[in-house]
Amino acid sequence: MNSSHAQNISSLADAERADAEDPTRNFRAHFHFPRPSNEMDIIYFTGNSLGLQPRKARAYVEQELEDWARLAVDAHLHAKNPWLPYHEFLTEQMAAIVGAKPIETVVMNSLTVNLHLMMVSFYRPTKERYKIVIEKGAFPSDQYAVESQIAVWSSAFRRLSTTNEPAKAGTQSLIELTPRDGESTLRTEDIVETIEREGDFIALILLGGVNYYTGQAFDLRTITEAGHRKGCVVGFDLAHAAGNLELKMHDWDIDFAVWCSYKYLNGGPGAVGGAFVHERHAHSFDLPRFAGWWGHDKETRFLMGPEFKPLEGAEGWQISNPPILQMAALRASLEIFEEAGMSVLRAKSEKLTGYLEFLIDQIGDERISIVTPRDSAQRGCQLSIRVKNAGRSLHEQIVARGVYADWREPDVIRVAPAPLYNSFTDVYKFAEILRECLN
Ligand SMILES: Cc1ncc(COP(=O)(O)O)c(C=O)c1O
Repeated sequence: MNSSHAQNISSLADAERADAEDPTRNFRAHFHFPRPSNEMDIIYFTGNSLGLQPRKARAYVEQELEDWARLAVDAHLHAKNPWLPYHEFLTEQMAAIVGAKPIETVVMNSLTVNLHLMMVSFYRPTKERYKIVIEKGAFPSDQYAVESQIAVWSSAFRRLSTTNEPAKAGTQSLIELTPRDGESTLRTEDIVETIEREGDFIALILLGGVNYYTGQAFDLRTITEAGHRKGCVVGFDLAHAAGNLELKMHDWDIDFAVWCSYKYLNGGPGAVGGAFVHERHAHSFDLPRFAGWWGHDKETRFLMGPEFKPLEGAEGWQISNPPILQMAALRASLEIFEEAGMSVLRAKSEKLTGYLEFLIDQIGDERISIVTPRDSAQRGCQLSIRVKNAGRSLHEQIVARGVYADWREPDVIRVAPAPLYNSFTDVYKFAEILRECLN
């Protein structure tokens, strides 16, 4: 939303009118909002951490509980939604959310597990090309995953080599992208410049779709093109991008991606994650992978033979049989996404977050500043508000007033109005609370 639009919503009545005209306004009623014990009004801006429960989720889970009670093992074939192919019920809707083909998409495991599985296949260091590019300040789990993959390779090299040469695959293997001095976010041209300069040594580029701390959305297409020009594999962690941005994973030619479903995708705590593997790798059966029976050819899986025959596409990376109860809850949310459509949600999201930015600027208090890029193409729902001298007590005060926002050390409050269930009125009320607490 540009500031002239935002200026038109200058009172609570204006915000309520904007909500009344919002074509997605009815989706809010599809979710449960938390009710703290004192029954005060709340503003839920932490869908970037845990999305709200879709009202239908309970019935979806109960259906599976009932089939378990009624049919037990026979539910694999005879449940209302048979369990044997259950993960397939989620594939098309999930694929649409990330702009992928069904063959490129699978719902399985959780995010960091999927990241490891993808790296086993797609991080193939050689003596010459062994580096991994990540963001400095990447989400810690990604940092640990990447460093541990490097360590596994490094120790294998050391054990197998008679010289010490490939042991450089230690810390020297990590390239951490850092913002320029005095800046908080990365410039695409600097990312591309690093790829061009170091590209011959880079085996893998692995960035977040949206950085969890700053809320910066990266230019996935440009980064992928730059990586591929230099012969690098390019993957993304879409934890903060799936269900937030309009993504085109297939068209942007990305090699692989992983994400979780408990944030913007409202799948519930610890919800089952997702993985994307580009169609061009669908038949790359020579890629090493960690195998398990659920990735094995469906026709012969139950012949229980000793030889692993991977399924084509992303499904071939599955290991275990899927968690039906979790998937049932996630289905309830994916149906809402299908009905709403990502492009409609994204259009509303740009307005909501633009309005939030406008109101924070209007407060004009020099103790707070927005870290997230001003350009709406470089962010999703979230704004990260740096709180200089106001400090953590400001966060505590807004929380005491019913705002769900989170604090990230050392000095950031993250707020993420989610277009499915947040409103212009929420944004207006939040800004009023922020203003009052600053005063
Ligand atoms: C960017 C990012 N990566 C990784 C993770 C870890 O996810 P999981 O616990 O599902 O592996 C998170 C969790 O919030 C995250 O935000």
